[in-house]
Amino acid sequence: MSAKSLGAHADAQLRSLGAAIGLGSATAQVRALLPDLLGAAARWPLGGPRWPSDVADDHSPVEYSVAFNQHGVPTLRLLVECVADDPSPLANQIAALTAVQALSAKVPLSVDRLAEVAGPFLTRTPADPFSVWFSLVARPDTSPMLKVYLNPRARGRERACELVATALDRIGFAGGESTIRAALRGLSTVDDYSFFAVDLDDRPDPRAKVYVSHSAATPDDVRRAGAASRDGDPAEVAEFCAAAAGADGPYRGRPLVSAYTFLPGDGAVPSGYSLYVPIRDYVDDDGEALSRTMSLARRYGLPDTAVRAAVDAVRGRDLAEGRGLIAHLSLRTGPPHPGMTVYLSSEAYGVTEARRRVGAA
Ligand code: TRP
Repeated sequence: MSAKSLGAHADAQLRSLGAAIGLGSATAQVRALLPDLLGAAARWPLGGPRWPSDVADDHSPVEYSVAFNQHGVPTLRLLVECVADDPSPLANQIAALTAVQALSAKVPLSVDRLAEVAGPFLTRTPADPFSVWFSLVARPDTSPMLKVYLNPRARGRERACELVATALDRIGFAGGESTIRAALRGLSTVDDYSFFAVDLDDRPDPRAKVYVSHSAATPDDVRRAGAASRDGDPAEVAEFCAAAAGADGPYRGRPLVSAYTFLPGDGAVPSGYSLYVPIRDYVDDDGEALSRTMSLARRYGLPDTAVRAAVDAVRGRDLAEGRGLIAHLSLRTGPPHPGMTVYLSSEAYGVTEARRRVGAA
């Protein structure tokens, strides 16, 4: 068993990822926040999870992503679950809320915004393993920004619509949940609210994102889901989905995920739409995932060499040895920043085996 800690592993990956994408001094700021974000998990040795986080397939509580856009340096993001010393769904929730307090002394952050929106999702008897996840967003020359991901299923799946509707209502997007629901095939049967995200930065007006997962969806379902947004590009998203998954669907592996972005002034109709494709379930290995990712980057006029550099910065093995280093690809359409995002696993606790190609020895 390795004596290296998860915190040290993630710190080294962040340092090379930040350098690979040209994040400059923002990288150091992100690295300095890792102990607060990860909680006790930062200090634990690699070698196996003491808390089976759903953030990543190997149950490590961290995932990186790089959001590419046509102009300028990409944005680095971390998705993190804060883990308590003695982890449980409630203990982790408390650890995360305590971490927000600590983080508020270090980054511009509105604790009031969290209080305003989190109420519906926080219960002392969470029905699901996760209550609060963090996303830290870093761009060159600015302070990192914190977002929280809350769990619409915290009070059971049957109450997810109500929780999402109440939270959207509270921050000026009344009616937003009905808009989304009207575009879906059937909540709780094939579609499910999976996350409610809100920016905790100190801007005066809230921004929120509502995520829906779609089981066994087709590109047509995606087109319909995307059409509920004001400025998304449903046709492009449907093509992206077929190209990223390498087939026309229905996608019966891990579900596609839609995200609706609500920006200030949007009211009941979200302006942006993104689609997440869990590419790792639709490839044999990461070599295939990388070549698909690079050709999509070229299609969108994004720097494919930077995509490769980001993957190389995080990987600790040959691409052909496993799948899931590239976990998801997403296409963001409409405001605020259209582009493609590549999600990268830390593989701190393990690697998912490559699928054997048909005909291979
Ligand atoms: N690992 C989980 C999943 O794949 C949660 C998750 C992490 C996720 N990053 C994501 C879900 C990006 C959608 C998009 O479902």
